[in-house]
Amino acid sequence: MKPKVFVSRMIPQKGLDVVLAACDAEVNTPDTHLSQAELIERVHGKEGLLCLLTDEITDDILAAGAQLKVVANVAVGFNNIDVQAAIRRKIIVTNTPGVLDETTADFAWCLLLASARRLVEADRFTRAGQYKGWGITLLCGDDIYGKTLGICGLGRIGRGVAKRAKGFEMRLLYTDAVRAPAQVERQLGAQFVDKETLFRDADFVTIHVPLLPETHHYVSIKELKLMKKTAHLINASRGPVVDEAALVQALRERWIAGAGLDVYEHEPELSPGLVELDNVTLAPHIASASVATRTKMAVMAATNLVEALQGRRPPNLVNPEVLA
Ligand code: GLV
Repeated sequence: MKPKVFVSRMIPQKGLDVVLAACDAEVNTPDTHLSQAELIERVHGKEGLLCLLTDEITDDILAAGAQLKVVANVAVGFNNIDVQAAIRRKIIVTNTPGVLDETTADFAWCLLLASARRLVEADRFTRAGQYKGWGITLLCGDDIYGKTLGICGLGRIGRGVAKRAKGFEMRLLYTDAVRAPAQVERQLGAQFVDKETLFRDADFVTIHVPLLPETHHYVSIKELKLMKKTAHLINASRGPVVDEAALVQALRERWIAGAGLDVYEHEPELSPGLVELDNVTLAPHIASASVATRTKMAVMAATNLVEALQGRRPPNLVNPEVLA
C-alpha cells in the first residue's frame, strides 16, 4: 500500500508526478492557504506532508499527524517549521537548497537595479500618461557602476550576488557570522568587514542571512541610521530580518534613498505606510520564481518526501538528529 501524504498547496506538475507515483496523495487543489485548524485536520492519518514556506508547521500540526514521518518543505528556508518539535517527535524535515541560488541572486539584482534607477516609479509615471517630454532632471536615480556593494551573509545566494557585481566593477564588502575562506574572498574580490563598517560604507546593502533568533531585526534603526543618505537596502531573504516599521520611517524621512523588498515582516501583510512610499520597490516573495527553478524545487521536495517514506535518507535532510 502506498503511504498517505498531504500536499498543502498545488506545486508544479513535475513535482506532483513524483509524489503521485509513490504515494497516495491528497492535494489541496483549490490552492488556497490553509489555516492551522485545516492543516491539523488534513494532516491527520498521513505519513508525509509536503508544504510551502507559507505553512506554519507548529508542534500541534506535527502532533496531529500521529503517523507523520516526514515534512518536506518546498523552500530552502525552513523557519516556518518547528524543527525542534520535529526532532522530539522523530519526524524528518527536508528543504530545497542549491537549486534556487542563482535565480534568487538574479532577483536581488533586479531589486537593486530597480531601486537605484527608480524603474517601477518610472513605469507608473509613463503608464499614467505623465511623460510629456524628455527632462534633464526627470526621474534621476543613483549610479551602480563603480559603487560599493555590501553583502550581509556570504552563503550560496550572497556569493551569487557577489559574482554578478564584477561586471559593474563594484567594490565588494561583506559581513557574516563566519568569515569565508581566503580563496573565496579572493575569487569574488570581497573584503570582510564588521557589520557597522558595511552599513556605513556601502552604497547598496543586500541581505542574505537566514532567519534565526539572532538575525531577527538584523536591520533596525541603528543600521538604517548608519547608512548613507544615498544608499539602498535590498532584502530577498526573510522579512523579519528587517524591522519594517523602522524601515518605513527611514524611507519616509529619507535617512536612506530607497529599498527593494521581496519579503515582509508580517507576510503577506505590509507594514502601515509602506505602500504609500515612492522610494521602495515591492515584490510578492518571488525571488526564486522562475519556471525552471520552481519546478526544480518541487521535484526536489517531492524526492525528499518519497525517499524518507521509503526508508532512505532524504538528500536534503535538515534534522539528521532524527536518523542518529
Ligand atoms: C524562498 O524564500 C525559499 O526559502 O526557498
